[in-house]
Amino acid sequence: MSSTGGGSRLLIRDLVQLATPRGAGAPLRGPALGDVEVLEDAYVLCRDGTVEAIGRMRDLRAVDGEVEELDARGLCAVPGLVDCHTHACFAGDRVEEFAMRAGGATYEELHAAGGGIMATVNATRAAGESGLAEAVRTHRAWMLRTGTTTFESKSGYGLDRETELASLRAIAAAGGVPTWLGAHAVPPEFADADAYVDYLLSEVLPQAAELAEAADVFLERGAFDAAQSRRYLEACAAAGLALRLHGDQFTERGAVPLAIELGARSVDHLEATGEDGVRALAASGVAAVLLPASALFLGRPMPPGRALVDAGAAVALATDFNPGSAFSESLPLVCSLAATQLGLSPAEALSACTVNAADVLGRSDRLGRLAPGYAADIVLLDAPDWRYLAYHLGGHVVGGVVVAGRPVALP
Ligand code: NIG
Ligand code: FE
Repeated sequence: MSSTGGGSRLLIRDLVQLATPRGAGAPLRGPALGDVEVLEDAYVLCRDGTVEAIGRMRDLRAVDGEVEELDARGLCAVPGLVDCHTHACFAGDRVEEFAMRAGGATYEELHAAGGGIMATVNATRAAGESGLAEAVRTHRAWMLRTGTTTFESKSGYGLDRETELASLRAIAAAGGVPTWLGAHAVPPEFADADAYVDYLLSEVLPQAAELAEAADVFLERGAFDAAQSRRYLEACAAAGLALRLHGDQFTERGAVPLAIELGARSVDHLEATGEDGVRALAASGVAAVLLPASALFLGRPMPPGRALVDAGAAVALATDFNPGSAFSESLPLVCSLAATQLGLSPAEALSACTVNAADVLGRSDRLGRLAPGYAADIVLLDAPDWRYLAYHLGGHVVGGVVVAGRPVALP
């Protein structure tokens, strides 16, 4: 890749292919999810951080004024990837636990024994706000390297007022979309989940609502039940937050009906969701966010991706990047898993981690497509066909990234 010139316009020229979800609406459901427009021998013209035009090179007219040119021979362009579900604000790691799981211990056993999420909580509380900001910046750089230009991150490893609020600030400072996951686990200072929810709502929510865009809850055996989740989410909605749920990761415990009843933006995981849940989601406005890297990392069943798409659900894909259940920041890997494990086509996978993921974050009017008026966030794939995004399993497929119309140096 080479570039010449300067100015606030950027012409990405001589792309082998440009691929983008077609149309204008969101979320994409059913057959529309796989409707990707592919232009061969293409260009993208960007102005002031926005896509001004796309087209075939043969149709490119002379561009007036100063324009920086980026020679994209050998590269394919897709929209900047949107990771709508991560836990990027954490300190330390869980490599010991990973090794124990490899030896047979299960994720839920480790959690019940005071390891798991609580191990990361202890490290995160000790890191301080500047340590957390540094950690999120590091994780953001990893994400950028694999083509993620927009990321959401949850708090949820503080579980006390000071660290939850510091986490939300650290996420925003690194350019992430902050989600308050106060209800991630019950810390040992509290007698039970109800007492902890009381604390969250009276002591943390007032300020969390100023810092976050959405609230999330881990509705699961050993975490929060449906009644506790309802109480937490209803209060968060009343404070102006959009709603998300971690649901049906290990067991079906009412997350899908609760999400639908409360008008949540999404219910995420769904590895344990059965046919009724699939039907209910498809008939609702709640997005199904699938996290196949987490299922892979924990050796769990995959979520019913094909059934959800066929039923007409609004399906998005995300990494779930976190130190315990999905230590991968790679959406290209998630696309590979979607194609090999969930039965999605590469085109469906692309739409699910661009336009539909942007919609989960309330940003599909600006993000997730390469079309005039959308943000000039672009991934340049080092590949002869854009479908290498899913095809090149674990490969080094991202050759360049453009954010807001500017090529960025990849770390
Ligand atoms: O989405 N399931 C709950 N929370 C995270 C994992 C957090 C952790 O293990 O640290 C998840 O998988
Ligand atoms: Fe998660």
